[in-house]
Amino acid sequence: MQYNEIDEKIEELLSMMTLEEKVGMCHGNGLFRTGGVPRLGIPPLVFSDGPMGVRNEFADDHWETVGGNWDFVTYLPSCTALAATFNRTLAERVGEVLGCEARGRGKDVILAPGVNIIRTPLCGRNYEYFSEDPVLTAELASAFIKGVQRFDVAACVKHFAANNQETERLSVSAEVDERTLRELYFPAFEAAVKAGVFTVMTAYNRLNGTFCSHSHKLITEILRNEWGFDGVVVSDWGAVHDTEAPAKAGLDIEMNVTSDFDDYFFAKPLINAVQKGKISESILNEKVRRILKLMFRLNMFSKDRKRGGFNLPQHQQTVLDAAKESFVLLKNDREVLPLNADKIKTVAVIGNNADKKHSTGGDSAAVKALYEVTPLSGIVMRLAGGAKVSYYPGCLDETYSKHEFHIPSNADEKTRAEIEEKARAANEEYRNIELRLTEEAIQAAQTADAVIFIGGTGHEQESEGRDRPDMTLPYKQDKLLERILAVNPNTVVIIISGSPVDMSPWIDNAHTVMQGFFSGMHSGTALAEVLFGDYNPSGHLPFTIPLNEEDTGVKALGEYPGGEKVCYTEGLFVGYPYHDAFNVPPLFPFGHGLSYTTFSLTKAAYRQISGSCKDYEISVDITNTGNRSGAQSVQLYVEPEKKEASPIRTLKGFQKVYLNPGETKTITFKLDERTFSEFCINSGWVFNPGNYTIKIGTSSRDLPIAMTLTL
Ligand code: BGC
Repeated sequence: MQYNEIDEKIEELLSMMTLEEKVGMCHGNGLFRTGGVPRLGIPPLVFSDGPMGVRNEFADDHWETVGGNWDFVTYLPSCTALAATFNRTLAERVGEVLGCEARGRGKDVILAPGVNIIRTPLCGRNYEYFSEDPVLTAELASAFIKGVQRFDVAACVKHFAANNQETERLSVSAEVDERTLRELYFPAFEAAVKAGVFTVMTAYNRLNGTFCSHSHKLITEILRNEWGFDGVVVSDWGAVHDTEAPAKAGLDIEMNVTSDFDDYFFAKPLINAVQKGKISESILNEKVRRILKLMFRLNMFSKDRKRGGFNLPQHQQTVLDAAKESFVLLKNDREVLPLNADKIKTVAVIGNNADKKHSTGGDSAAVKALYEVTPLSGIVMRLAGGAKVSYYPGCLDETYSKHEFHIPSNADEKTRAEIEEKARAANEEYRNIELRLTEEAIQAAQTADAVIFIGGTGHEQESEGRDRPDMTLPYKQDKLLERILAVNPNTVVIIISGSPVDMSPWIDNAHTVMQGFFSGMHSGTALAEVLFGDYNPSGHLPFTIPLNEEDTGVKALGEYPGGEKVCYTEGLFVGYPYHDAFNVPPLFPFGHGLSYTTFSLTKAAYRQISGSCKDYEISVDITNTGNRSGAQSVQLYVEPEKKEASPIRTLKGFQKVYLNPGETKTITFKLDERTFSEFCINSGWVFNPGNYTIKIGTSSRDLPIAMTLTL
């Protein structure tokens, strides 16, 4: 259907609808759907979480899963894992898997991706987001969105905006200056709009005092008028607190977690407000037009709408490909990695994350995975009958809950003594188990041919609704690691987490360290391929790993978690810009990631594109100088002339290349006007002529190539 035909059809439908029918399309009428208009053939709009796979089916009117065995799906790598691949093509392919599966499960809108910036290492949902860097986030999220929407499903980019913590997320006001918003917290949303995203979700929090769902500035002035968004704006589930303000702000659909659907602010109260003339019907009509337009875009009225499909073998392959590229080799001082499967006869696998599944945790990002290969199963499958693999948990995790004993206030002495004795015995038993697990692990670390520690966090620590109290590894893993490394410094240490953890207690004694993420159903298969050299690691850190929390911009210059308000006084100094500008060495810098081969960068050059003084193409040659094939993410950073309130350098481009030993490829980066612009409160984006140093390398701190552009 042509666009004008669609517009005509929309007007025709609108003219036949009653006020109640129009309003019914603008609010949840089931926990994950709006109301349709059956008499006019308008279906409800069906939503589902989330970023790591299509969430299990929920009852329509109460917060309970339907159960059954038919809604298992492909479990995808988290957005942080995708970001670590620095690979747009992979992000797009993973997006396609999500779109195809969402359609296969009968969904219209998939509530992903989350593009909030990783502001503090402690945010419980960091793993759902891409990075501390706006360009990496924007680029990968755009690719992901394009992939999703190829299947007649809408992506829903979330949470707009400045939703960077879970502490008091429902009410906290993020106090952020305009430049910081425009240069750090908004670019991924703006890029999503440019990539054609069909829906946007407003965040729970307030931004500079106003609830995001109520903000005319955010929804109408910036999102729609400035960026040209013509899709549907839907609230986070329970992020609306009134009828008039959000209706006038431009919000289209109110969703919530409660079942009193008729009482939602955008239900009966909206009907009343229109009837009383407090909200003009034309405002409501605009919302319905946008929702109908979305339905046409998704081919919801067409027989030819794509059907999608879930659990397809090619989806599992894509997940494996992405998971492999997500592992980041942080340290390999003694070249312990890759392990030689032919020489190893005994392997001790130690740690709380070795045999743990992560798919079901984290709340709205949880997935009912068709299967999940844990690291231990990946290693055992890889070595098959060729080596003996033994597993030692080494510590007590949350599955060993300590029994709590309470002494009633009216307990007599005998009862009190009995309870005290039981508590003492239980404590002793707990300590004994802990001691035994540790000793068994230490013993094994001394004798096995290869020792692989797989620890980190899980969704008990990283989850929606709460932040982590600190960066410390849970379950006393630090102590365990210190002891393991003391008896066997060749232990391979793998940390699986969605946020940076404090590695300072043991990092100096570890020679082989890898960062992994929540990488989907093939996380274990992928890890085994990386460990045994079937795949050469190519991931790069999407966040800085600071030495500790004190060394973050937020802690040093800003405020977190705040109270009713949280002031983002650190401005743009989040992540590596803070470390660079304030001379605070990170433990591992943003963008860092080693390989089993080596690369060199040469022959950097630049040229102006079509005579414009604002558009440049930068090229550089990269050669694989080692003897294994491998991939490298070449990163380009731009340094303007030094200004107090500006970062020294920021990422402006990246390209991932695959090279055989000895092979050279030329890669190019395009820099445009925005690269050389700064946001000014009074005049918007302003192009800044002057000298710019372009730096190219393989992390934010390993930048061997430099050249100056004078604009
Ligand atoms: C989360 C959203 C999610 C929604 C629906 C909210 O609590 O913040 O990310 O999409 O619930 O489950």
